[in-house]
Amino acid sequence: MSKDPRLAKFESMYHPKINQYLKDNLKKDVDQKTLNQAMNFSVLAGGKRLRPMLTLATLKTLGAKLTPAKMKATCALELLHTYSLIHDDLPAMDDDGLRRHKPTSHAVFGAGMATLAGDGLLTLAFQWLVDNSLSVDTKVKLVDGLSKAAGPSGMVSGQASDIEFEDHQLPLSRLKVLHRHKTGALIHYAVQAGLIMGHAKKELVKPLLRFADCFGLAFQIYDDILDVVGSEVELGKPVGQDSGKNTYPNLLGLVGAYDQLEAVLDHGRRDLDDLNRKSSIDTGLLKSFFSYFQVKRRNRRR
Ligand code: IPE
Ligand code: IPE
Ligand code: MG
Ligand code: MG
Ligand code: MG
Repeated sequence: MSKDPRLAKFESMYHPKINQYLKDNLKKDVDQKTLNQAMNFSVLAGGKRLRPMLTLATLKTLGAKLTPAKMKATCALELLHTYSLIHDDLPAMDDDGLRRHKPTSHAVFGAGMATLAGDGLLTLAFQWLVDNSLSVDTKVKLVDGLSKAAGPSGMVSGQASDIEFEDHQLPLSRLKVLHRHKTGALIHYAVQAGLIMGHAKKELVKPLLRFADCFGLAFQIYDDILDVVGSEVELGKPVGQDSGKNTYPNLLGLVGAYDQLEAVLDHGRRDLDDLNRKSSIDTGLLKSFFSYFQVKRRNRRR
């Protein structure tokens, strides 16, 4: 299956807008020259921008208008996500040398400055959530959602388990929780931010967050699979790095990991089809995001 034309069209429209917003605005809020370079280096190195695109797609699904304030709050998540990548790559964490087709932050700026670039992006994300013209009620909900998703009850908790249980194989139930925390939580928030800013009707909140959770789990299973079947040239980051890690292919083998991925994708698609029938919204755009996952049969034989 190739990329859904609906996703391709949405991406061609909003990926450049997100990049432009980040390029124009990030530099305004950093006072130290080297820190500015380091923060810009990682944010502007590239990246799929999937998380802000999910927020924008949720807004569009709800029929909400995209204002400059909503754009700022949406792009805040990309700052926070980039921080998580810089810290994930540090020598004391995954110790990787390539990210987004470029040398990692610590390889260019040193571990100290890379740590600070991450700290700066994490903090600036919350500044961007608040320093805009959204209502106070909306801002409080966004800060509440992002702090829970990114902090010690979300992504950081997943990252802690990721390093603590290196070389200790966790059972599937605990691996799922690890993945939901380290990767699923920010993707959950990406959709939640759209629901908050788009003032979603109560009955849409749970089903759309369920979609986010399917997408988030699938995203990390697929990332685990790509570490086995992908290439550095294609991904812009090293592959074959996950030997001691808790991943789906390490626990279940490649075929087992693909089976789990397909089961999660089927579940997510069925849920969105159900919602499409039961509500007045068109879930087609969000459903098209599932075509990001290229489940190629030829890879299964490796
Ligand atoms: C990489 O995220 C980290 C994971 C959660 C697997 P992405 O694959 O979204 O990385 P970029 O933003 O496109 O570089
Ligand atoms: C990282 O998972 C998830 C984060 C919270 C950054 P990985 O360690 O598998 O991500 P990659 O493969 O380095 O992008
Ligand atoms: Mg990691
Ligand atoms: Mg890593
Ligand atoms: Mg990975």
